[in-house]
Amino acid sequence: MEGMSSRSPPAGSYSNGHHNHKPQGGGRDQFRSRKSRHTTAGGRVSGDAEPPPPCTDFDKAYFQSYSHVGIHEEMIKDRVRTETYRTAILQHQSHIEGKVVVDVGCGTGILSIFCAQAGAKRVYAVDASEIALQANEVVKANNLSDKIIVLHGRVEDVQIDEEVDVIISEWMGYMLLYESMLGSVIVARDRWLRPGGLILPSNAVLYMAPVTHPDRYAESIDFWRNVYGIDMSPILPLAKQCAFEEPSVETISGENVLTWPHVVKHVDCYTITIQELESVTTKYRFQSMMRAPFHGFAFWFDVEFSGPANNDAPSSVEESPKTAASVSHRRKRANPDEALVLSTAPEDPPTHWQQTMVYFYDPIEVEQDQVIEGSATLTQSKENARFMNIHLEYS
Ligand SMILES: C[S@@+](CC[C@H](N)C(=O)[O-])C[C@H]1O[C@@H](n2cnc3c(N)ncnc32)[C@H](O)[C@@H]1O
Repeated sequence: MEGMSSRSPPAGSYSNGHHNHKPQGGGRDQFRSRKSRHTTAGGRVSGDAEPPPPCTDFDKAYFQSYSHVGIHEEMIKDRVRTETYRTAILQHQSHIEGKVVVDVGCGTGILSIFCAQAGAKRVYAVDASEIALQANEVVKANNLSDKIIVLHGRVEDVQIDEEVDVIISEWMGYMLLYESMLGSVIVARDRWLRPGGLILPSNAVLYMAPVTHPDRYAESIDFWRNVYGIDMSPILPLAKQCAFEEPSVETISGENVLTWPHVVKHVDCYTITIQELESVTTKYRFQSMMRAPFHGFAFWFDVEFSGPANNDAPSSVEESPKTAASVSHRRKRANPDEALVLSTAPEDPPTHWQQTMVYFYDPIEVEQDQVIEGSATLTQSKENARFMNIHLEYS
């Protein structure tokens, strides 16, 4: 998703049976740069041996993109997102009350304030973007300065003098891993979380599935076949390139999806390492549930908010095709004690993450029960870790 701004599509190129996508990097908005200034800072917990990774120009641009109020407005207005976080905080109130919390990437401070409202003793609200200055004002306006300490700087650089009981963060990018913010949650976990502490969200799962989307194809491609009675089909190759060269972030519905999804990656926030995120490869095998033109693949994710004791999600789900039973188990949650899930699936209420689509230049007709198989590799760009390369093979 190289060069992709928050609302624009990731990139790619296409050749027979192989789809190489070079998605573009960064936040859910354009990148601009930041100043590294601590509004307040404590001392680092002892035991930090590794020097922090350098803050690159790409990182600066990334943090700058979060200094604009619009991106925070969009996230906060995403009620599915924000209310699920608030519910998760309330559900885990017994772990938060009287405890020390760090909010990794606090933005306007909203999650820090939810935690303070849930009774946290102290919240370290950390953000490297200038938005931290606004968060500090919001904290003051709500008379929470005695509880919330805003640290303006990178999680990798700021110092906190004590162990924390809880880490909360809204780190998920498009396709879950775009933006690469999870690495900073891992840094926070390894620097400050006490053994047995809580991480919200606790798990995440990235899915993919083949989709049919005739309306989208007709609107962007078939349109050129007859424009006010004029044959503009010479424009078709350019139209395909412009529409589908890059992955695109858009909302599809459950009806567009041709099969049960496949788990590309399961993330256990308690154990995942930065190295594991550098490259993710999965082999998939789908069986189309209907006869339809197959237009490409959709990617989406969900995250789960479970307590430390429940954090026993089996790694065996990783890179395995999902069965109908496992999907229904995750979706339906008849038992209210089961973990809360924030889903960005096509069949669930839309969120600002929508779904990420990787389209082919030309649809492939598939029969009912026809097998679609191949592999997908998502790799962090070496040049800019906020970028992601997608390599898709299919037959
Ligand atoms: C997706 S926003 C979430 C904002 C807020 N928590 C919310 O839920 O509305 C992510 C925020 O994390 C910040 N961020 C990302 N990586 C960071 C890092 N390594 N150190 C400090 N802040 C970071 C960004 O500047 C951005 O404001």
